[in-house]
Amino acid sequence: MAVEILSVGAYTPKNRVTNDALADIYKVDTSDEWIMSHTGIGSRYIASEKETCTSIAFEASKIAIEKAGIKANDLDCVIFASSTPDYKTFPASSSILQELLGAENAGAFDLNQGCTGFIYGLEVGRSLIVGGMKKVLVVGAEKLTSHLNWEDRNTCVLFGDGAGAVILTESVSDDSKIIDSFLRSEGSGAECLKVHKGGSKYPLIAGQVVDDHSFIYMDGRNVYNFAVRAVADVVRILMEKHNLSEDDLKYIVPHQANKRIIQAAAKRLGLNFNKFFLNIEEFANTSAATVPIALNEMDEKGLLVKGDLILTVGFGAGLAYGGNLLRW
Ligand code: ACO
Repeated sequence: MAVEILSVGAYTPKNRVTNDALADIYKVDTSDEWIMSHTGIGSRYIASEKETCTSIAFEASKIAIEKAGIKANDLDCVIFASSTPDYKTFPASSSILQELLGAENAGAFDLNQGCTGFIYGLEVGRSLIVGGMKKVLVVGAEKLTSHLNWEDRNTCVLFGDGAGAVILTESVSDDSKIIDSFLRSEGSGAECLKVHKGGSKYPLIAGQVVDDHSFIYMDGRNVYNFAVRAVADVVRILMEKHNLSEDDLKYIVPHQANKRIIQAAAKRLGLNFNKFFLNIEEFANTSAATVPIALNEMDEKGLLVKGDLILTVGFGAGLAYGGNLLRW
């Protein structure tokens, strides 16, 4: 059985913060020149205190449900890909979202695989449909800015908030479908990208002060090297497996952590950089939300025509990586 993406929706908070504003308002010791030249990031959206990861996911999911022409109670499952859920341990954000949506016939679970979460979610959602479910919501959502140390310029300039969602269903024709997925993990690099404290390994202790270990930490150089290799491997492996040339692919939609990672991977693959759809300049790195936000933008701009071949690529914490080959 083939499974297709029936609709896509996205939402970003209203507060768009430019690099200059980050330096001025958030008092980050940085500059637009440094951030643009080292990452390609020009701005990011920052959620308000009232907004939660789940409320951001809710906005994107509502749009995807409406575009699909279905009702929330048609959903059989809600898959919530995120590394910044509302609560650290439980309840699962997927259950909160299921209730907000009124998806009373749906099961729900969280999927925590960093920036690769949505890529994993698409494949898991596809499997659930093959297993007999009719409609599955996969949402990638993040409120990363609530986990940043605004005094750590190595990380705080890189991330933003947002959400993107899709509805999966059985394909009505062979023209649209998730053709294949490639999923991998390299746990040897797990310590390169983490929030050290607050899990069961380094639990919170009453009265202990919040310090650098309470926020996102990244060994940028190592993650950068891994990311270039991961993007190149995923694209090469899926293209070779399906005997695809560059011309066969309409777009490669990568996770967007740094424009230079994509440029380096494109060079390594010998592919035209224009094959990669990028919107990092506006959104920065929104982790699990990046790929569905990009798919939504492409859909809204009419860049995708039914039958187009698209390749998604994700990489990040874990260190996990992977991709999906889609016929739109
Ligand atoms: N503004 C100004 N200067 C800065 C900033 C900043 N925001 N950040 C770092 N610098 C300085 C450093 O202090 C350093 O100065 P020094 O030489 O005086 O010590 C200098 O700039 C160079 O720093 P590098 O770390 O060498 O900079 P680099 O060019 O390697 O870029 C970056 C750093 C952007 C973090 C890069 O390593 C990167 O993109 N890494 C990968 C990120 C990634 O892929 N994340 C993915 C996953 S995220 C997830 O899964 C949740």
